[in-house]
Order: sequence, then structure tokens, then C-alpha cells
Amino acid sequence: MTSRDPISGQCVLVTGGAGFIGSHLVDRLLSEGAREVVVIDNLFVGAEENLAAARGTGRVVFYRDDAELTTSLDYIFEMHDVGTVFNCATKALNYSFHNPSNAFSTNVTVALNLLELQRRGKFHTLCHFSTSEVYGTAVYEPMDEEHPRSPTTTYAAGKAAADLAVESYVRMFDVDAYIVRPFNNYGPRQNHNGLLAGIIPITAKRVLTGGKPEIHGDGQQSRDFIYVSDTVDAVLKLHERLPAGETVNISTDNQITIKELVDRISKELGYDGEILRRPARPSDVLCHNASNAKVRQLIDYTLTPFEAGLSRTLDYYRDLARKEQWA
Ligand SMILES: NC(=O)c1ccc[n+]([C@@H]2O[C@H](COP(=O)([O-])OP(=O)(O)OC[C@H]3O[C@@H](n4cnc5c(N)ncnc54)[C@H](O)[C@@H]3O)[C@@H](O)[C@H]2O)c1
Repeated sequence: MTSRDPISGQCVLVTGGAGFIGSHLVDRLLSEGAREVVVIDNLFVGAEENLAAARGTGRVVFYRDDAELTTSLDYIFEMHDVGTVFNCATKALNYSFHNPSNAFSTNVTVALNLLELQRRGKFHTLCHFSTSEVYGTAVYEPMDEEHPRSPTTTYAAGKAAADLAVESYVRMFDVDAYIVRPFNNYGPRQNHNGLLAGIIPITAKRVLTGGKPEIHGDGQQSRDFIYVSDTVDAVLKLHERLPAGETVNISTDNQITIKELVDRISKELGYDGEILRRPARPSDVLCHNASNAKVRQLIDYTLTPFEAGLSRTLDYYRDLARKEQWA
């Protein structure tokens, strides 16, 4: 079994660390005793507020900068003695419907930049964030790590290409890099603004601002939702044991259709009005039912029940609506 230096006492870099999962990861790295957590985020979607508590510790250094620029990364690696990098930077899936080429290239460029730095010995371990989207629509269920990769969007194609880059650098140069592959995450701090918002925050925001929830297509497309702290917990446990070059799904057994999800959010927020129907989105993956057999075999895997996680998440958006005076 792989053994890596503990996070405690290390300087860790998180790309995309002002985003949803990245900011929860930063909090957890600090509570694990990281000496310093360096964040590079261009705030494409991320927000500095997501790091407010973390920065209060005095152990976070935030760079509002672009991880696609090699010179920016070079500068950071000159300034900090980074041991481990968690690569969370990405541009949201929905963005690929508007700017397909850039959504693809961000995923590939950031990964290649980091792999080149790692190959040159600038840091030791890379934890690369993939996505369940690389599988495309299931050809068998539940989808395990051997499921064919058949991306249906350029976002997912860029992610799949980045995964292949990580795997090939491990084979060619023996770098210590592994891949975590989360399924749909939910929880506080997920972006709720504009076209790039996730289904839970956008539905909550619509209801909390007096609007109507929306469903694309017949709503029968299903997803496997995992609470963000559970993902972060799994990533840090996997960091200790997952061999280089390997990939692990991080998912629950919370298979839920989008229609059922929107109904539950509406109910929890006391909304019983109309739910608007929108045309199906091209390339919307129909089903994401994951196998989590591998992660369960590797670590002590604890999962938040969906009802509890959803209720905590909606509490967060209720508070935010009050603070930011949404209505
Ligand atoms: N949220 C999910 O459901 C989910 C599911 C599967 C995989 N993932 C993966 O987990 C990782 C984190 O996802 P998230 O949900 O926190 O997304 P997010 O959009 O909230 O965070 C990504 C962050 O990357 C930043 N970013 C974008 N381009 C950048 C660049 N060029 N340089 C620096 N920063 C840049 C954004 O501003 C944002 O803060 C991603 O790699 C994503 O593919 C997420």
C-alpha cells in the first residue's frame, strides 16, 4: 500500500481553491495541520468569500491568478516550497455549451502545466480531480472505474484528456500522481450565479427570489449526489493510500432523478407552485449510477444521508439570501 508524507506540516497548493469543492478542501487541509495552503484561482466562478474563514487562520496565501499561465505557476513555485498539489481548477460544465474550446483547453492546459512542473521535480504529489462526466451516458450500471470513457461535452472531453495525461506521465516519468473522480457534489458554497450555476443552488435561488423552478427535458435524467464534505474526507483518506496512476470514483448510492430533486427542494423551501419545463439540453448525460466498490475497499467511507445534506445546503442558501437580500 502506498504511503505518502502526511498533510500535516506540508505546504499544499490548491488550484481552483476559491471554488466550491476547492474551498472545502482548503478548510480541511488546514484542520489536518497543513503548514501553509496556497490557492491559485482566477475567480472565473470562485469567490474570495469562500476562503474567508480559511484566511483567518493566517496560513492561507491566495493568488488571484491563472493556472493556465506557466509563468504564474513558476512564480508560485519559486515563492513556496510546495509538497502536494490538489488540482481542482476548471470551468463549469455548462460553460462548454457557450465556449466549447476554452472549456476543453482549461482542463488540459492546467493539468499539463502541473505535470511538467512535477516532472521537473518542483513538487512531489499530484491529486488530480477528474469527473464522472468522462464516462458519458452509462453503457452498464453501476459504472465502475473500468467503464468506457465516452465524454458527451467538450468539458468532459478535456477532463478525459487530462486524465490520460496524468496516467501517461506516471507511466513515462514515474511521477506520484493519482486521480479522484467525484460524481455530482452538492453543499454550501456551490456557485448559485448565472448560467453556470448547479441544479441545487439555481433551484434554491429561483424559489427564494420568488421565481419558479425549472426542469430541462422530462426530468428523468438521474444523478448520484454526494455531499461535498464527504468528497473531501474521501480525497484526504485516499491521499494516504491510493497508488500512483490509479483512479477512484467518489460517489454515493443516492441515485435521484432531476424531477425528484427539484420536487424535494421545492417542498423543503415551502414552494408548491408551478415547475417550468425547458427543452432538453443537447448532450445531457441520461444516467449516472456509480459503483463505489473501490473506494469502500480502500478507505473507511462515511456518507451523509441525502436528506440531512440537502437540508444543510438549503439552510446555507436561505442564510445567503438573507445576507445578500436576494428577494
Ligand atoms: N462539483 C461537482 O459536482 C464535481 C463533480 C465531479 C468533478 N468535479 C471536479 O472537482 C473540481 C472542483 O469542482 P468545483 O465544483 O469546486 O468547481 P468550481 O467551478 O466551483 O471550482 C473551480 C475553480 O477553478 C477556478 N478556475 C477556473 N479556471 C481557472 C484557471 N485557469 N486558473 C485558476 N483557477 C481557475 C474557478 O474560478 C473556480 O473557483 C473540478 O476539477 C471539477 O471538474 C466537480
